[in-house]
Amino acid sequence: MTAEDLTVLGIETSCDETAAAVVSGSGAILANIVLSQLDEHRPYGGVVPEIAARSHLDHLDRLVAEAMDKAGLTFAELDGVAATAGPGLIGGVFVGVMTAKAIALAWDRPFIAVNHLEGHALSARLSDRLDFPYLLLLVSGGHCQLLAVEGVGRYRRLGGTIDDAVGEAFDKTAKLLGLGYPGGPAVEKEAAAGDPAAFALPRPMVGRPGLDFSFSGLKTAVRQAAEQAGILGGGDVQRRADLAASFQAAVGDVLAERCARALAVFKQDYGAAGPLVVAGGVAANRSLRARLERVATAAGTRLMAPPPALCTDNAAMIAWAGVERLRLGLTDPLDFAARPRWPLESLAVRG
Ligand code: KG4
Ligand code: ZN
Repeated sequence: MTAEDLTVLGIETSCDETAAAVVSGSGAILANIVLSQLDEHRPYGGVVPEIAARSHLDHLDRLVAEAMDKAGLTFAELDGVAATAGPGLIGGVFVGVMTAKAIALAWDRPFIAVNHLEGHALSARLSDRLDFPYLLLLVSGGHCQLLAVEGVGRYRRLGGTIDDAVGEAFDKTAKLLGLGYPGGPAVEKEAAAGDPAAFALPRPMVGRPGLDFSFSGLKTAVRQAAEQAGILGGGDVQRRADLAASFQAAVGDVLAERCARALAVFKQDYGAAGPLVVAGGVAANRSLRARLERVATAAGTRLMAPPPALCTDNAAMIAWAGVERLRLGLTDPLDFAARPRWPLESLAVRG
């Protein structure tokens, strides 16, 4: 058997999506099932950890069976079982890790504990055959980081947010404007009908040295603008679209300036400006993707962004990270403990 023929089952339960997928060593996605818990959390305006964990428990076994069925494989035919082992809501992470360990133990298959952020970080290698190193902008609900991806398990942090994550800023803006939950897709949809120049919002950190981000000031500015325009929690539809568009444009400007700067740093350190990869839930945003594409082109490189379904949480990226680790012989013992916090830079790879 060659590395191309490997098949790995991936399990993702770190937040509010229960997901199972089977991916091959050649990057073929043989099954990719995502069950969103949105309806269960919507009444609370955000993810409730207890509800999430219980829901993962209720649905995961069935989703795994469906994924295996779809892939046309038995557990015995798998080369590895990978699960998100952190960072994330620990109750949910436990459910995924215990399930993966049980399958690994029962069928004597290798277990791979995947860092959720590494799943996002390597997703562009699943969707496009991409070589190391590359510059990664990782933007999700809980994270906003610029990283040099040197190899599997080898991440160098260049900068990150000093307060809110980008996805969090989208979610809070959506809440302020009464657009509901989850915020990212709702703000993007609303922004499409708005004028991005209608409201003058700040561009925090732009022009400052370094590669860090800050979004809490932008969130405050959105609240003030919404109050002044009388659209806090709802109101005039056009004004609301205008503020959503203005917010999205401000985020776009911040990400663009930081990425342009990071591409220059990356070029100095690695000899080439990029490619620039954007991953994580916020990378599903088409307007931000277009903005970053212009940045990459201006720097003489290209933007690689996985298709939106591989940007938001899914198990295909976890299975793929499993494939990448398995190929290097990086498997984990069955007593590997799930981790609520697990910085990407701390992943040590031997050799
Ligand atoms: O990666 P992800 O699915 O989960 C985490 O690991 O956090 O990211 C979820 C975040 C949420 O904050 C969501 O609002 C945001 O990604 N998001 C978006 C879009 N789709 C999801 N933000 C902006 N535009 C979108 N289209
Ligand atoms: Zn994620």
